[in-house]
Amino acid sequence: MPQQVKSPDSSSIGQSHMHVVVIALTAALGGLLFGYDTGVISGALLFLREAFHLSPTMLGVVTGIALAGAAGGASVAGLLADRFGRRPTLIGTAAVFVAGAVVSALAGDLAVLLAGRLLVGIGIGGASMLTPLYLAEIAPARERGALVSFNQLAVTFGILGSYLIGYALASSASWRWMLGLGAVPGVVLAGGMLLLPETPRWLAEHGHVDRARAALIRLRGRGVDIEPEMKALRADLGSKAQTRPESRLGHRAARLPLIVGIGLAVFQQVTGINTVIYFAPTIFQASGLSSASAAILATAGVGVVNVVMTAVAIWLVDRVGRRMLLLTGLAGMGVSLCALATAFMMGSGPLLGWLTAGSLAAYVGFFAVGLGPVFWLLISEIFPLAIRGRGMSAATIANWLSNLVVALTFLDLVDLVGRPAVFFIYAALTFGALLFARALVPETRGLTLEAVEALWVARAKDETPHDPESREAIPTPAA
Ligand code: GLC
Repeated sequence: MPQQVKSPDSSSIGQSHMHVVVIALTAALGGLLFGYDTGVISGALLFLREAFHLSPTMLGVVTGIALAGAAGGASVAGLLADRFGRRPTLIGTAAVFVAGAVVSALAGDLAVLLAGRLLVGIGIGGASMLTPLYLAEIAPARERGALVSFNQLAVTFGILGSYLIGYALASSASWRWMLGLGAVPGVVLAGGMLLLPETPRWLAEHGHVDRARAALIRLRGRGVDIEPEMKALRADLGSKAQTRPESRLGHRAARLPLIVGIGLAVFQQVTGINTVIYFAPTIFQASGLSSASAAILATAGVGVVNVVMTAVAIWLVDRVGRRMLLLTGLAGMGVSLCALATAFMMGSGPLLGWLTAGSLAAYVGFFAVGLGPVFWLLISEIFPLAIRGRGMSAATIANWLSNLVVALTFLDLVDLVGRPAVFFIYAALTFGALLFARALVPETRGLTLEAVEALWVARAKDETPHDPESREAIPTPAA
């Protein structure tokens, strides 16, 4: 029997596509962790409050300690990922996360609960920065934008999943299961990462050119010619080695994207989104939806809006551009927040409860179509290569720290000045964000990263104080 000629790619037919699917699923798990565990606390708080006799301040601390951990996790993960590689750091992150979920679920007293939440936070913070980084570095160039935004879609799925699980378990007050179930995607993420390779970029940067080539072959499938990509990778690294002065940290051309990245990070949080994500059931209860399940169900509706509008954003972002989505989304958020604050001023009752839910849904929808995904996408695009890692890290840390400040102040602020005033404050900050974005955020749609860098250099020289891309006529939002 003539020996069958085994072509090099006979075992990997269709693998290129398969790998994109595996990569996307892995991204979904990283995002899912982030979403599930930031969201699960909203349902669990109703029961934790009773189980541990928590004051409003302590409720904020239980939420906040995970956020402080996340800021720490994001900074440490960045350093470890540069040193030891993206893959082992992601696996380690998932392990810390699983440990945290188990500890929180088993907690018998407040100290153990807080320790578990801190570990979970470290895991979330690491994943929030490493997942987009890993994706951006292994995705084929033409799929990079979609995959990075897909991560935010997974975040919203995780939040929705946590609400549904919260709803399903609400009657039995099983907060332990709510917190513990987060371990599942963590285990799957760690397992999935064991099957995926280190990123070719990290390997090449650390002098392992042959391993980088092998990783690319595994990622793209054997039949695919990877040499053009290897060449591009080497050219990219070469240009990084000869860092242009404009790209150095102190230079105005590097400072501008840092201001934009950190500014958007702060605005994404201080405009109040997570007061809804974390405290929605509490808000709904206060405005007239009195049973815990009705409140959690209304919250799940908000979660659906978040997922659907994020999907819309993914569809639109390469068609209408980042600026358009960001500015329209911010204007819509501002108006919805004013409506929400007004509903609060009118008191409470079943009808007002649903009115509140409507304006909350509109607010979340406008966030999901703009500031939510566009922030995470922009920080992977706007930094010059030489400071991309540190820039992303700084923006991620700023995001988690602002998240913490809002979580810690929200309930006390409500006690101090009243609910309507708090939401009017978020509305004012949203209009501030609108002005900030309008003045400073460039349109990056369709531009190569080099072109984005050149744009900052030009701006730094004050040649073009405003967006030079006249193709992007900027509509004046109804603000
Ligand atoms: C973004 C925010 C996160 C928020 C989520 C809501 O990912 O960074 O803080 O919880 O959107 O969808």
